[in-house]
Amino acid sequence: MPDPLNMLFGTLAYLAALLTALWTWRHWHYRSYWLLLGGVVTVIRVRLTWRKVALGCGLTKKQHRWWFTVVPRAVASTGIVKVRRRFQRVAVDVKPWMWVPRPTRHGWRVTVRLLEGQVPADYADAAERLAHAWGVHAVRVFSPRRGRVVLAVTIRDPLIRLDRVPASGELLKVVVGALENGRPWVIDFRTVPHWLNAGATQSGKSNLANILLVGLASQPVALVGFDLKGGVEFTPYGPRLSALATDRAESLALLDDLIAMMLDRMGLCRAAGARNIWQLPAGLRPVPVVVLVDEVAELYLMADKSEKDDVARTSTALLRIAQLGRAFGIYLFVCGQRIGSDLGPGVTALRAQCSGRICHRVNDPETATMTLGDLDPAALVSARAIPADTPGVAIVASQDGQWYRARSFHVAEHIAEQAARTHAHLTPSWDELTAPQHPAEVTTPDLAALLDA
Ligand SMILES: Nc1ncnc2c1ncn2[C@@H]1O[C@H](COP(=O)(O)OP(=O)(O)O)[C@@H](O)[C@H]1O
Ligand SMILES: [Mg+2]
Repeated sequence: MPDPLNMLFGTLAYLAALLTALWTWRHWHYRSYWLLLGGVVTVIRVRLTWRKVALGCGLTKKQHRWWFTVVPRAVASTGIVKVRRRFQRVAVDVKPWMWVPRPTRHGWRVTVRLLEGQVPADYADAAERLAHAWGVHAVRVFSPRRGRVVLAVTIRDPLIRLDRVPASGELLKVVVGALENGRPWVIDFRTVPHWLNAGATQSGKSNLANILLVGLASQPVALVGFDLKGGVEFTPYGPRLSALATDRAESLALLDDLIAMMLDRMGLCRAAGARNIWQLPAGLRPVPVVVLVDEVAELYLMADKSEKDDVARTSTALLRIAQLGRAFGIYLFVCGQRIGSDLGPGVTALRAQCSGRICHRVNDPETATMTLGDLDPAALVSARAIPADTPGVAIVASQDGQWYRARSFHVAEHIAEQAARTHAHLTPSWDELTAPQHPAEVTTPDLAALLDA
C-alpha cells in the first residue's frame, strides 16, 4: 500500500514542477504561451463571466416584456379551481451577444452586438470598468459597422520597455516607437507629409525630434531646423542640418529660400509634365527636405507692434509650404508646447494642413483640442489622461482616421549628436539645394529627352 505522506509529497512536487514550467514558458516565450494556453483560458473565462461583467458594467438592460400568458392559478379558497387569464410582466437580463474572443499579440479582441438603444459610446464609457473587471491594462472600443462594437483588450502595457530604434529601410520613413497594440509607430512623410507635435515641457517632444534626426540622418534627405529658443536644441545637430534658423530674421530668410526652392521645383515638375517630384526620373528628382520646427509659438509671438509684419510674413510662408510642400518634397514636423488659436489665425490654418497629429501630455486643454479635437473627442480624453511620469507617451492620429496611444523610443541627445556627426557627409549644402534646378536654359525638349533616358 502506498504511503499517503509519500503520495502527498509526490503530488505537491509534481504541481510545483508544473507551475514552474508554466511560469518559465510564460516568461520566456509569452507569445506561444498566450496563444496556446493563456489565451484559451482567458477566452473561456471571458465567455463564462460575460453576463455578470456586462451587468456590473451597466451594459445590459433589464428588458421588460409583456407576455400574454395563460397562467393557471389554483385558488383554493372556495374549493373551486379557477383558471385566470392575465398579462404578466417578465424581466429578462439580456446578455449582449458576444462573438468568440480572438487572441491577439498583446491581448484579445472581441465583437459584441449592441442592444437596441445602445450606441458605441456606451461601451467607450464603460471601457475603464471593463478593464478593471477583466483585470487588464486597457480596453479600446471601435465600431466597424452599425450595431457592432469591437473591444480591443491589451493585457499589459506594451509601452513600458523600449530599447532600440529599428531601421525602417525606406526613404522618409522612421520607426519612432511602439503603438499600444504592439505594432511599430511609424512616421512616414511620404504618406503623411506634415506633422503637428504638441506637448508640455518634459513631455517628450524633443526626444521625438531626436529620433527623427537619428532615423533620417542616414537617408538621402536634407534636414532643416527652426529653433527660435536661441538654437539650443538644434545647434548640436548642425553637422547634419543643411540650414538652421535661430532668430526671426534668419527664419524669414530661410522661409523665403524654402519657398523659392518650392517654386523652382514646381517649375521643374511642370516642365516635365509631372504632378510631384516622385514622378520625375531619379536623376532629375530633387532631394526631399524635412523641416523640423521646435517651439512653433515663438514664430507667431511678437514682442511689440513692429514685429507684426514679420509675424504675418512668417505665418504666410509656413502655410504656403504646408499647402504645396507635399508635392515638391518639402515636409514639416512642427513641435509646440502650446498650439492655440490665440497665436493667430495662421496657426489654425497651419493645423488644418498638418494631417499627422501627435499629442504628448499637455498643460492646457486648448492645445489638446487644437491638436486632436477635430479628429475624435475620445482621443482628447485619452490625451488628457497621460501621466507626467511617462515622458514619450502620446496620442497619435493620422490619415487613416484611427488614433492610438503610443510611446516613443528614448534617444538621448548625445546619440542624436553622434548620428549627426557620423552622417555629416550626407548633408547637402544649402547653396546646392537652393540653386535653381530648373534654369531657364533647360528647355522642355531637353527634359523630355531626360525623361526618355
Ligand atoms: N520615450 C521616452 N522614454 C523615456 N524617457 C523619455 C522619453 N521621451 C523623453 N524622455 C525623457 O523625458 C525628458 C523630457 O523629454 P524632452 O523630449 O526633452 O521633452 P520636451 O522637449 O517636451 O520638453 C527627458 O529627460 C527625456 O530623456
Ligand atoms: Mg524640448
